[in-house]
Amino acid sequence: TLEVDASKTITKIQPTMFGLFFEDINFAADGGLYAEMIKNRSFEFDKPLMGWEQPNTKRSSMNKESGSATPINLSATNTNFCRVEINNDKGYALINEGFRGMGVKKDAKYNLSLKAANPNGAIKKIIVQLIDKDQKVIGETSIVPKSEQWTNYKAQIIGTQTEAKAKLKLTFEGTGTIDLDMISLFPEDTWKGRKNGLRKDLVQLLYDVKPGFLRFPGGCIVEGRTLSDRYQWKKSVGNVEERKTMMNRWNVEFNHKQTPDYFQSFGLGFYEYFQLSEDIGAEPLPILSCGMACQYNTGELAPMDELDPYIQDALDLIEFANGAVTTTWGKIRSDMGHPKPFNLKYIGVGNEQWGPDYIDRYKVFEKAIKAKYPNIIIVSGSGPSPKGEHFDYAMAELKKLNAELVDEHYYESPKWFRENAGRYDNYDRKGPKIFAGEYAAQSVSGANPNNRNNWECAFSEAAFMTGLERNAEVVQLSSYAPLMAHEDAWQWTPDMIWFNNLESYGSANYYVQQLFSTNKGTDLLNITKDGKALIGQNDLYASAVKDIHSKEIIVKLVNTAASSQEVSIDLKGAKLGSKGSIIRLSSSNTQDENTFADPKKITPKQSEYKITKGKQDLDLPAYSITVLKLKIN
Ligand code: AHR
Repeated sequence: TLEVDASKTITKIQPTMFGLFFEDINFAADGGLYAEMIKNRSFEFDKPLMGWEQPNTKRSSMNKESGSATPINLSATNTNFCRVEINNDKGYALINEGFRGMGVKKDAKYNLSLKAANPNGAIKKIIVQLIDKDQKVIGETSIVPKSEQWTNYKAQIIGTQTEAKAKLKLTFEGTGTIDLDMISLFPEDTWKGRKNGLRKDLVQLLYDVKPGFLRFPGGCIVEGRTLSDRYQWKKSVGNVEERKTMMNRWNVEFNHKQTPDYFQSFGLGFYEYFQLSEDIGAEPLPILSCGMACQYNTGELAPMDELDPYIQDALDLIEFANGAVTTTWGKIRSDMGHPKPFNLKYIGVGNEQWGPDYIDRYKVFEKAIKAKYPNIIIVSGSGPSPKGEHFDYAMAELKKLNAELVDEHYYESPKWFRENAGRYDNYDRKGPKIFAGEYAAQSVSGANPNNRNNWECAFSEAAFMTGLERNAEVVQLSSYAPLMAHEDAWQWTPDMIWFNNLESYGSANYYVQQLFSTNKGTDLLNITKDGKALIGQNDLYASAVKDIHSKEIIVKLVNTAASSQEVSIDLKGAKLGSKGSIIRLSSSNTQDENTFADPKKITPKQSEYKITKGKQDLDLPAYSITVLKLKIN
């Protein structure tokens, strides 16, 4: 018998309790959420023709090159464009391979745009085709590049066939030279139909979590391998064409396979992140560099007397998000289409830094931010591990500094998650609040194909999350990490959402997050067995909340045992109605997982629950998560 005391609210559950952590890792932005289908659209990768093929270059009748593409660099600060020379019209083609192909759907519309300068009118027509993996044309349009000057051209292609690995092919009528830049292709059907928009299916998955916050843009990409390749938000706003492409920090061989073609176009930049947060009802939570490059890489440090530009970036970001349209950065936001402030409340200083170098820098940031924006809540880091010397040092120092919210990260075994459901039970209620900012159970260690989003990982996270919820006095935000991965281009496993160029699905871990987030309630209640919190006795875990809006008591129960167990809920201090419901997430095999072939294998199932007089009895199947919702009068 478990006792739930509904007469007393222990604390309010923060609306931010369960949120999302977005990082551009695993092709999550370019090639993923950002719906652009052309890789290296403006020829700015380190190898400017990366992603572009020229298969027919030498196949003319006279054994002379039929044409060629040459990247032209104007200057170090200006961008590249591509000069295409057509020697004859015998089949020269410039083909973009997309992000491991392009997802094209039958009857869907795709908006093409490009910039061209056609001196002497040499090129009469550009034929633009989508081709499938066998080179068959599956959609076509053409552009007549009339102007000698740089001009924007637009056209639309309708897909005639569904294909996950399509490519975009340009062929040219005429002989001579044409300059091309910003060759872009977006599905018309983006999230909210926005230009420069986001992939609808992926945003829908985020929206369906009803996340309390969205942390962005990372992760390690905030820090960079060196300081010069840290994420600089100012370079990610304004005209999309002027956002300078940069190599992604995850453009590395990382336990799996190399992704040398991983760059950041910044088409999905800070304005779009704020807009996305607003769209999905999440508090925006940007994390900025604190002048420390990733300590796993160079660990380069900005000297203490050279921190000003980093601090200025933080202050200007707050102005960008919240400032009046008359301020410098507020005007830029307004000109981009959002005169209303984004109402930013949080800012993160550094991602996953540790040691005295971090604390020294944190202090300077804190002073400057609080002096100008006393109400902004600052998130500080505690390093990459939830235990050990670095962690203890960070926590002790941050406590002395009265830090407001400390970000903890843990990538540990499922067993660790089950054994640590009581982690926060003894955290000082008067100390810093906790942001469990990155966590995921690892079925085996390291990013590799054997590290799976399996059911054991998912229900172990759920067991742990009852502990987050029970400690809502201390834990105010939490998020699984990483969020997304492209099935053909990932660097890290496991991940909450998997996608390819056509489809996406939520892992079992995704449904755990969704279940907690959509049933977080408003008031924390005490749930005990024999006067103690349930943190694994008999392999059971539990938490309870009240929702004052829906007038419900919500009890979450996780049975991590290999057999079913019966429990009885003895609810005191509330008058129960007659109706209730049960939402259950379960699978009989700990190794089960959702896949592209069976994306809904592990998904929540809802059924009615008839409230009885006295105690509420229920059977918890083996390896299951149960959310019991009881109406109160
Ligand atoms: O989530 C993947 C990485 O894990 C993040 O970039 C980093 O913060 C952590 O080490």
